[in-house]
Amino acid sequence: MNKKWAAALVTGATDGIGCAVAHRLAGLVDTLLIHGRYPTSLMELAASLAPANPGTTIIPLKADLASLAEVRYMINRVCGSLDRLDILVNNAATAGIYPRTLSADGHEMTLQVNYLAPVMLTAGLFPLLTTPAHSRIVNVVCSPQRNVKLRWHDMSLEHRYHPVTAYAQSKLALTLHTAGLADILADSSCSAVSVDPGTADTKLHRRAFGWPAGPVAAAADCVLYAITASTGVKGSYFEQQLRTEPPTEHSSPHAQRHLDRITANMLNIHLPWVDMVYSPLTKTPAS
Ligand SMILES: NC(=O)c1ccc[n+]([C@@H]2O[C@H](COP(=O)([O-])OP(=O)(O)OC[C@H]3O[C@@H](n4cnc5c(N)ncnc54)[C@H](OP(=O)(O)O)[C@@H]3O)[C@@H](O)[C@H]2O)c1
Repeated sequence: MNKKWAAALVTGATDGIGCAVAHRLAGLVDTLLIHGRYPTSLMELAASLAPANPGTTIIPLKADLASLAEVRYMINRVCGSLDRLDILVNNAATAGIYPRTLSADGHEMTLQVNYLAPVMLTAGLFPLLTTPAHSRIVNVVCSPQRNVKLRWHDMSLEHRYHPVTAYAQSKLALTLHTAGLADILADSSCSAVSVDPGTADTKLHRRAFGWPAGPVAAAADCVLYAITASTGVKGSYFEQQLRTEPPTEHSSPHAQRHLDRITANMLNIHLPWVDMVYSPLTKTPAS
């Protein structure tokens, strides 16, 4: 059978929404890369995917996003295994961590797992993502971000730390990053969208919020919708399956470029999409 895509990678595929998305994608791709932080859960997932999808190559990728060294290792493994990537779903995330904890890389842990690590992964895999005729980056975000503002001078939340703020800020940063990336990629073969899949009864939801939530399958439908929906002038942000406006802060190219600069500094890497953008943006008076 001809598959829809050559290769897709889903982070946080060992549980919750990511696991449901991996099961849906497995029949649609030639190669499915499943990411998780524990070898046992990865092997269990691979064993459950393989029998139903005999034509699909399943590649498990172990990396704890709390370690940027492990993210780098994952990037190297993917680049060594593939020459193109059609779909990247940055789904893995943690609820806000309490008490405030720093990663070995020196960043507030929620920010690292939910924002810095997926941006680093996107940057590392960018050459593979810009190879196919059509590719998509889908970043899974969350609506509580609407209640916070980025603390530009205190991204690691040294002051007034609260785990809900940490979670919301990390998702706001990811949404802002995605909006900027979507603009940059507007005329290219690669597109970027963010999706809030709605509340689903998962480990993260029970830990972060605790109120009743909907089925995981419905949230996975929303992520699948974001993978396939057309993009264009109307924007790159979905709340469930509704294309809508992200928080207003996101519409500013100035904020997007500023976040790129801060992020590149925190990760100590070059963000490859920056090269594609600065000339068009300098023509925009508002920027
Ligand atoms: N559930 C909701 O109501 C809801 C609403 C809006 C948005 N979202 C978003 O949906 C996405 C999926 O979350 P979920 O609700 O499905 O939660 P989940 O069931 O807890 O799944 C989260 C996934 O991320 C992985 N993960 C967490 N920390 C990690 C780390 N340090 N390194 C590597 N992987 C790590 C988890 O791995 P382990 O299995 O090893 O823990 C798991 O596979 C998240 O981006 C979340 O923000 C969820």
